Amino acid sequence: MYNLANKRVLLGVTGGIAAYKCAELVRRLREQGAEVQVAMTRGAREFVTPLTFQALSGRPVRTELFSNEAEAAMGHIELARWADCVLVAPASANFIARLAAGLADDLLTTLCLATTAPIALAPAMNVQMWNNPATSANVRVLKERGVILFGPATGDQACGETGPGRMLEPGQLVEALTLLFQREDRLRGQCVLITAGPTQETIDPVRYISNRSSGRMGYALCKAALNAGAEVTLITGPVALEPPAGARVVQVRTALEMRDAVMAEAGQADIYIAAAAVADYRCAEDAATKIKKTAGILTLRLTPNPDILAEVAALPRAPFTVGFAAETESLREHAKAKLAGKHLDMIAANLVGEGKGFERPDNALEVYWQGGERSLPLAAKERIATQLMELIADRYHEKNKN
Ligand code: PMT
Repeated sequence: MYNLANKRVLLGVTGGIAAYKCAELVRRLREQGAEVQVAMTRGAREFVTPLTFQALSGRPVRTELFSNEAEAAMGHIELARWADCVLVAPASANFIARLAAGLADDLLTTLCLATTAPIALAPAMNVQMWNNPATSANVRVLKERGVILFGPATGDQACGETGPGRMLEPGQLVEALTLLFQREDRLRGQCVLITAGPTQETIDPVRYISNRSSGRMGYALCKAALNAGAEVTLITGPVALEPPAGARVVQVRTALEMRDAVMAEAGQADIYIAAAAVADYRCAEDAATKIKKTAGILTLRLTPNPDILAEVAALPRAPFTVGFAAETESLREHAKAKLAGKHLDMIAANLVGEGKGFERPDNALEVYWQGGERSLPLAAKERIATQLMELIADRYHEKNKN
């Protein structure tokens, strides 16, 4: 059995003596069915030649950020998207520091910044360098951002010292990567229904009421669910985003349209995630023609929209139902009230307004469920979505065990 069949591994090799072990790593990854694309830093090329990796991976090795020839075959952004996982082995102290600083001054750091795939580092360095407070701080920062550490192992080092700092052996790295992908595949075969974006509530043929949702959070969740192996249906309000490839997409405009689309799908869904910012009210009357400007105050009468989330949670065979709560204050109290009041399995609460939550590329969530909670600190929405999807998979499997 091939444990890594069809997995696309972007292997970043940085400058360290352990780079020679990566020839064996590439061989083993391919033995397990993975497609491997190697990217080498300048330092790595002092230890091993690109030709070695080219022969073993079956692909030209990427070394330069600005290379017309390589970019013509697959641009660096395309390459960052291509990867199912980025593994940097060996990861030198210098590379770890540059990644922690958010630099994009060579191909590998740029790929790491541009990818939304999980990033795993296999550190390899002298024991004093590993124990140095600067390295510890950099590693802490990276872990907080969701970067995964494979190792380092403790033992004899090439420099003659003994202690932590040895790169894991190729076999151990393949095993760690297999486990990582198994975690990533945790929703294989499950149907996940996600709503995203705002709704637009008609005032008259040219005007509507809406909100500031960009759809980024919902679209990131869609991608995270696809990465976890799920079949995903995305029901989206009007946004300016390209839907993730692989999802079934239903475009809607109003809350009533979103409700109809959700209720048509909810019966088949295993998990429902309501990230859309659905308008709570719509106009009681749709004006058939454009409302004319008058001197006085114009009053619009609003009527409540159905609460889609509560309706789904109340279905006799309700999917595992995850709501969002967008609040400007008292996040915990309001979120917990929504969790209990709408009988949800989980709620992800975010502060919005004053440059938070809406429209931005990043977000922070407080996640609550019956008997548990977890903070997901500020990070790119893609990263937050991956972390939330892991929590959802944990709770979903836990619930279905019983
Ligand atoms: O799209 P972005 O710019 O990336 O911003 C992301 C976000 C801030 C919109 C997102 O993270 C978020 O918080 N989405 C939910 C916004 C919202 O409508 O929150 P709420 O507290 O008003 O509603 C609570 C829950 O009920 C939500 O899951 C909502 O989808 C659902 N709801 C609300 C009203 C309604 N009529 N039907 C519903 O299903």
